This record gives sequence, structure tokens and C-alpha cells, in this order.
Amino acid sequence: MSDRTFHILTFGCQMNVNDSDWLARALVARGFTEAPLGKARVNIVNTCSVRDKPEQKVYSVLGRIRQATRKLPDAFAVVGGCVAQQIGSGFFTRFPQVRLVFGGDGSSMAPQAIERLCAEPGLRVSLLDFSEEYPERDAQLDSGPVPPSAFVNIMQGCDNFCAYCIVPYTRGRQKSRAADAVVRECAELVDRGAKEITLLGQNVNSYGQDAEATRQATAAGDGKAVSFAELLHRVAALPGLARLRFVTPHPKDIAPEVIDAFGTLDNLCPRLHLPLQSGSDRILKAMGRKYDMARYMDIVHRLKAARPDIQLSTDIIVGFPGETEQDFEDTLAAMRAVGFAASFSFCYSDRPGTRAEMLPAKLDAAEKAARLARLQEWQNDYTEQCLRSMVGLHTMVLLDGMSRKPGMTTPELQEGVHEGVHDGVAGTPGGESWQGRDPYGQAVNVVMPPRTQGGPEGWLGRIVPVTIVEAKKHSLRGVLRA
Ligand code: 5AD
Ligand code: SF4
Repeated sequence: MSDRTFHILTFGCQMNVNDSDWLARALVARGFTEAPLGKARVNIVNTCSVRDKPEQKVYSVLGRIRQATRKLPDAFAVVGGCVAQQIGSGFFTRFPQVRLVFGGDGSSMAPQAIERLCAEPGLRVSLLDFSEEYPERDAQLDSGPVPPSAFVNIMQGCDNFCAYCIVPYTRGRQKSRAADAVVRECAELVDRGAKEITLLGQNVNSYGQDAEATRQATAAGDGKAVSFAELLHRVAALPGLARLRFVTPHPKDIAPEVIDAFGTLDNLCPRLHLPLQSGSDRILKAMGRKYDMARYMDIVHRLKAARPDIQLSTDIIVGFPGETEQDFEDTLAAMRAVGFAASFSFCYSDRPGTRAEMLPAKLDAAEKAARLARLQEWQNDYTEQCLRSMVGLHTMVLLDGMSRKPGMTTPELQEGVHEGVHDGVAGTPGGESWQGRDPYGQAVNVVMPPRTQGGPEGWLGRIVPVTIVEAKKHSLRGVLRA
């Protein structure tokens, strides 16, 4: 076993995936190499606590790591992300193999800490403090390839305190990243081959509206912080950037200029994930979402006016405390009214310390599960209908890897565990079957001529003209247009 090997397992949202990618690059730049679970000395689990199942998975993964590394005396575990922030050094007692815990703001210091832990076997470290400033990370400009579709953080934390949500406690107060740093990172990624960039934040619409943004603006002497709409325009203007996306916007804060951008910026993709959470005004109020259905529908209509072909997706929580059958029916009615191309729906789960945890009238698990099944059944049918309606379309597909098996879709990154996300394009069998995304973010599989015809990199990162010929349950199949 090499002394400097690591393995990362990532749970939860795209921000965690992005943090893990950065950590992997930072460790490689320090001379570490990736190794499979059970062979690596440093076993990192990047955790999510937004719902309770992922949290339970962390505990079982730590058990798995202990089992897999029992013959490696130097091996140790590192826990990062939201569960680490929440449980903190409690991990040291419950899982003695854990020697580092770090939260969102501590991740920038994790590589140095891991290096120290390798050199000092008796040491344990916690990096759990929230910093006042956006924790800018080492750019670690390794010369390796960047993925065709890259992610860039624009802020940390959240100030909204929606009644059910643990994020403001685990990720801290909102801190915007300096606009120049965002644009610089995007420009470097595009220079190095990225074709698509997704800007990431817990609530991107309130980018620039926090103490950190004001401090940066004052220090720069211009007094006025850059708004999210301005940031979008600056990034969209980067030469060579074919596609721009962002996630996650909060409906209450969406500015008219951001809606307009869908009509004016050619490379802003016609797809928006706009979390609704519930279609009942009563429940939205109890959740503290600060919009009602009339406001949400107004945003939807204005988005469709700006970009008539826009596809929307959403998050829904089913069974919030006090949710009646009528409230749930209102949610189904809202789903029908908007017609989301996809939705991520969850049973409400109590999170420690949140306002909703204290609310009476909790629903029983069976009722929540039954409502969730009804909603998902409707969504699955509707998604299939949406995909079927795309058959015959001429579109452009950004190829991001070879399909593992012909016809297989890319993994959905919203949910679950992301293992081996740093593999890049595997030289897996599957012939010439490639996978990619259309401008709406739909997964498309397409058979390409032999790799060598795509140049030294194969077809990776190429945007190719495709006709959609078949709709599957969650993806499309296309053929290359001449
Ligand atoms: N219970 C269930 N779902 C939740 N989410 C956030 N907190 C909870 C909770 N306590 C969902 C919301 C959010 C998504 C990331 O996770 O729908 O948008
Ligand atoms: Fe959680 Fe609400 Fe912030 Fe989203 S906006 S991270 S749901 S508190």
C-alpha cells in the first residue's frame, strides 16, 4: 500500500460533488493518488444531512470502510460536509478510525490537514468553524483535462431558514464569492476545454445580497455589489462558452433581469430547476417559503414568455407537518399546471433544530409514502410524455462520456452516493455508444463513428447535431445528423 492514496465517497447535492472534485485535484497536486475503497489509506466521506436517509448511509459507509481497511493499519477516515458540521468531533468517539472532520468552510484547509495526518499518526483535526469571508480555495491549476461540463461555486451557505431545512445550520450564513474570482475560474475552465458551466449556490438569486458581498464591494471602492443577473451576463460573455446553467434559484428572489436573461443570452440553456416544495399556499406559508402559488405561476409565465421552449424541473416535499389531503391535491394540481419535465420529490423528514421539527400534526410514514408514490407515478408518466414529445427533434448534444452499456443513461447527480466521480471517461466496453446532454439537460445516447475519428480525445466535449429517434423512461436516443 502506498502511503499517499485516497478514496472519496460523495453523498448529496452537486455542491458536494464539486467540493469532492476540488479536494481530489488538490490531493493529486500534493502527490496523492486515487485508489479503490479497501486499498486507500485516506478514506474520505463527503456527507449530506438534508434528509435523514443520507445521514444513515454515512454511518453504514463508515462501517464499510472500517471493514474494508481492517488489514491496513495506517488507514484512516475523513468525514466532510454537512453531517460532519452537525455531529463534529462526535465522530471521533463513535468511529475511532475518523481522524479529520471538516465542514463547508473548512474544506479549503482539508488537503493540508490530510497531509499532516499522514505524517503524524496520533493526530486528530476538526475544521468546523464558519468563516466570515467566502473561503476562497487554492486554484490548484493542475494541467489535467477538465470535464466538458464543469461546476463553479458562486456562494456558500443560506440565510432563508425554510422551516424544514438544515442547510443554514450546516452551511452557515450566506457568503457570496467575489464576482472577479467566479469569472476568472470560469474563464480558466473554458480555456482548458470546458464547454458548459453550471454556477452553483444554495440560493443563487440572492447572490450579492449579503454582508460579504457588501464588504467586497466596499473594498473594491465601487460601493455596489454585483447582482446575480450581472454575474450571469459576465460569465455568458466568455468567448468559447457554449452553455451556461445555474442551480439553485429560490422563487422568492428571482429578479426580472434573470428571467429576461433566458430570452437574451444565447448560451443560457432553456432549462431551470425552480424548487416549488408544495402547491398549497397554507403549507408554503408554514414552510416559510415567502411566495404563494400565484407568484410562482407568474414567474413560470414570465419565464415561458422570455423563452417559450424552456423546460422546468422542481423539488417537492410531501407530508410536511399539517399537510391535509386537500393540500396534497393542491400540490398535484400545481404539478399539472406547470408541467415539470422532471421533479425530485421527498417525504418530509424531521431535521434536528429546525422550526418544522417542533410543529405538531406530523403525518405517519405510511401516509407520506402513499402520497409520494401518487406524485411520483404522475411525474413518471408526465416525464415519459415529455420525452416522447421530443422524438423527431433536431438538437445539439454535448458528449460527456462513453456509455457504460449502449443505451444506458448518465447517472442522476441530484441524489444518492457518487462513487468514482473522478474517473473521467472510462475506457469501458460499449463500442461507440456515447452519452451526452441536450440544451434542456436531457440525457441523450448516440452512436458515434469510431473514437479515432473524433481526434485524440475521441468525441469527449464535442457538441454534435443529433436527431432524437426514441424516448426511453429517463433518457433519449438520438442518431448523428450528417
Ligand atoms: N425533508 C424532506 N425533504 C427536504 N428537503 C430539504 N429539507 C428536507 C426535509 N427536512 C428537500 C427540499 C430541497 C431538496 C434539496 O431537499 O425539497 O429543495
Ligand atoms: Fe434550505 Fe430554504 Fe436555504 Fe434552500 S433556500 S437551502 S431549502 S433554507
